[in-house]
Amino acid sequence: MRANINYNHLKESYLFSEIARRVSNFSKIHPETEIIRMGIGDVTLPLCSSVVEAMKQAAEDMGKADSFHGYGPEQGYDFLRERIQAYYAENDVALELSEIFVSDGAKSDLGNILDLFDKENTVLIPDPVYPVYVDTNLMDGRKIIFADANENNGFLPLPDDSVLADIIYICSPNNPTGAVYNREQLKLWVEYALRNHAVILFDAAYESFIVDKDLPRSIFEIDGAKKCAIEFCSLSKTAGFTGTRCGYTVVPQTLEFDGIQLNHMWLRRQTTKFNGVSYIVQKGAEAVFTKDGREQIKENIAYYRKNAKIITSALDKLGIWYTGGKNSPYIWLRCPNGMDSWTFFDMLLSEIGVVGTPGAGFGKNGEKFFRLTAFSTNENTAKAMEKLRLLLEKDDGYH
Ligand code: MLT
Repeated sequence: MRANINYNHLKESYLFSEIARRVSNFSKIHPETEIIRMGIGDVTLPLCSSVVEAMKQAAEDMGKADSFHGYGPEQGYDFLRERIQAYYAENDVALELSEIFVSDGAKSDLGNILDLFDKENTVLIPDPVYPVYVDTNLMDGRKIIFADANENNGFLPLPDDSVLADIIYICSPNNPTGAVYNREQLKLWVEYALRNHAVILFDAAYESFIVDKDLPRSIFEIDGAKKCAIEFCSLSKTAGFTGTRCGYTVVPQTLEFDGIQLNHMWLRRQTTKFNGVSYIVQKGAEAVFTKDGREQIKENIAYYRKNAKIITSALDKLGIWYTGGKNSPYIWLRCPNGMDSWTFFDMLLSEIGVVGTPGAGFGKNGEKFFRLTAFSTNENTAKAMEKLRLLLEKDDGYH
């Protein structure tokens, strides 16, 4: 037996595990310090009542012979896929039910989709980026090239015809920068992919945070995208499903490479390797799309948006450059005084007990940047920003 030595190319630990390790070590030594977590994008508000009620009812169903559910369809129950289909239709995106696959979250599908692609493909990934895209390709030994995202391009790199790629990752609203592609910019990516016979893996996990009506929530709002893109979405941030686990992936029927429909391949892959999301969770997910569910999650998103406003107002007052926070739960800021991001991380943790995510964890272009999330409570967000203000004003040298 030989191990997959591609794992040797990975960093020692996954970014958020490393942060958790550092915070836990710090807390052991300083148990008196109150920790405010604005690092990993994990939600703080509980599931909304519509979801809870639906899951309770589903648990009751499972306890009765006439409504018990065993193995479900691997690609998800129609009751949920129909809701997702209707949700897309609101933005004039027409999907066939067979194009929608329910999953246990975007992260798993973003990794698993690589089963469909040859290992010789070249992958284009923006830097900075959600580390899952890079790590899953390193595990397969695929060649990765990076598209520079930086202050000059608003952290939204555009295609460059001199760079040839087969698989392209786009996350919009972006994790970690919170930047969002507009329609024209996404159109350029779709045209590039069609010209170069490439596939776009579009991560739409944060689409529900978009407030600007003109911004696209789905890549399928762009003409031609159904011939070159797969879209991944998640209820984690939209409806607080980080611990409940449910998302969906859209693989158009019109997506064909080497004479093979990717939709058929994905169905084949899922029916072989995946037994579907539990009935109880899918019932909870269905409730997210009901009228009551929609209103309730809207309130939760407004609550997080308030946090984003607290953060961006504090940064404005401190004169710190940032992006995101408007159509996104992430705020991406430049570390004060040219500090590197792990130094800033350690400083915030040790001096004020605030945990963020060092930009370096998302790539080399993140080295002087830092990510804060809007997923804490309103009280803790305000407290953290006040502590940050006092810390930075105490020592002007940080500016
Ligand atoms: C993040 O903090 O970047 C996200 O929580 C990651 C994820 O959704 O897996």
